[in-house]
Amino acid sequence: MSTSDTVLVLGAAGQIGTDLVMRLRNELGSDKVIATDVKNQGGAIGNDGPFHTIDVMNGQAMAEIIDKYKVTHVYHLAALLSATAEKNPMFGWKLNMEGLFNLLEIAREKKSFQIFWPSSIAVFGPTTPAQKTPQHTIMEPTTVYGISKQAGERWCEYYFNKYGVDVRSIRYPGLISYKSAPGGGTTDYAVDIYHKALDQGTYECFLSANTVLPMMYMPDALDATINLMHAPAEKVKIRSSYNVAAISFDPQTIAASIQKHIPDFTVTYKPDFRQAIADSWPQSIDDSAARTDWGWKEKFDLTAMTADMLLNLKKQRDITPSH
Ligand code: SER
Repeated sequence: MSTSDTVLVLGAAGQIGTDLVMRLRNELGSDKVIATDVKNQGGAIGNDGPFHTIDVMNGQAMAEIIDKYKVTHVYHLAALLSATAEKNPMFGWKLNMEGLFNLLEIAREKKSFQIFWPSSIAVFGPTTPAQKTPQHTIMEPTTVYGISKQAGERWCEYYFNKYGVDVRSIRYPGLISYKSAPGGGTTDYAVDIYHKALDQGTYECFLSANTVLPMMYMPDALDATINLMHAPAEKVKIRSSYNVAAISFDPQTIAASIQKHIPDFTVTYKPDFRQAIADSWPQSIDDSAARTDWGWKEKFDLTAMTADMLLNLKKQRDITPSH
């Protein structure tokens, strides 16, 4: 990153945006990171630096902000996640695709900024090899979210090849964070479980005990994102989206890691519609291209993540006891 960077974060109030905005404001200075979301925000996102209300379906509003601040890097994080999009498929498709198109079109015209756009393990489906899923493999997603991400990947690569738009992307696994809650994903259980362990000592999980999914702790996800955005362009050889991986576990294994800190913690299992989504996704990911091309490496395993999550969530509860 350099002091001449001016960053725009779309969807800044979401799970990734909340963490990313705080980190970028610490590193670049608050006035260099413009946060936007579809809803007005208070708190750190709304008050600690520039904030604007922007709907990503309004391309003109997006273009005006990019001009106004002479933005050099855009992180486009506004989307409907897997479980929410299944409940409202047409809106999921519309939001996830139109938001991306609006930004790609502005980039094509201006050529003055780089784009980060998140993809997901949801681009894979039941016909994909589930273990060590390769970078290039069968992709037949069965969710609206997965279909929108796969189509988005194709369009990102198209805009890079055809128009020279510098767009970069990661296929995130399930992300786990303490600063912000996820919203509407199939992997959300792996965040809820820590909160319930501390607050209630028991958790009812919406996936079965042995549902293995690829996951990552948020500090690692932010490192991956920022490192990819600042890698020299010639090292970014994949312009659809990179596989990245850190940890794979199932609910009973994360529960056991929490029980090392909270021995009385209990979990029950009551799978719902999200089980079928999880069953269609890979269990582990081969991310050797990201490791070779731009040096990706995670810092947190499950043990380290659980210790850090519980420590930070306890601190939050000490500050706000009614949590
Ligand atoms: N965490 C996301 C979800 O569950 C996957 O990209 O929808």
